[in-house]
Amino acid sequence: MTADIQEILVSEEELQSLCDKLAKQITDDYKKSDRKLVLICILKGSLMFTTELMKRIDIPLEIDFMKVSSYGTKTVSSGYINIHLDIKREDMEEVDFLIIEDIVDSGKTLSHLVRYLKERGAGSVRTCTLLDKPDRRAVDFDPDYCGKVIPDAFVVGFGLDFNEKYRNLPYVGILKPEVYGG
Ligand code: IMP
Ligand code: MG
Repeated sequence: MTADIQEILVSEEELQSLCDKLAKQITDDYKKSDRKLVLICILKGSLMFTTELMKRIDIPLEIDFMKVSSYGTKTVSSGYINIHLDIKREDMEEVDFLIIEDIVDSGKTLSHLVRYLKERGAGSVRTCTLLDKPDRRAVDFDPDYCGKVIPDAFVVGFGLDFNEKYRNLPYVGILKPEVYGG
């Protein structure tokens, strides 16, 4: 697996400190809210990030899961968002939703999900991404919390995949373009 990595972009140590930083901001921002905090882990890419983040957040919270796709097997967004797994809740207006995403690219996935949850009556909706590639933005979208801004490269590891592979790498690395035919 490591032979397919061109360069380590975010080391294990840096990932830990990014999670510390984000969890502290989230704890400070939500501790006075009278709604319940629900983290929505966007499967599958945000699995590792969500677990690392949630254990550092020092206020009561619930987790929920959604599964969406826009990518298929390519490295370019189709722009069409499919919801494969949705949340089922009766208490939408009593909830502060914080959507946890691995990476923002075109911005289409998160801007769509924020709109969707607001339309369903959510008390509040914010977004937290580990990584952001603002150079690739196709819609007007800014995450509320961002671990690290990165250049326009295809990255894998710490949950992020290419064709379902590399999610188990403990760091985030740039995939060699020859692996995906780039
Ligand atoms: P967006 O809707 O274009 O912002 O796409 C966001 C989704 O694209 C993320 O949740 C990832 O699943 C996927 N994605 C974008 N860039 C990368 C990358 O560099 N590596 C792995 N997945 C990526
Ligand atoms: Mg994803």
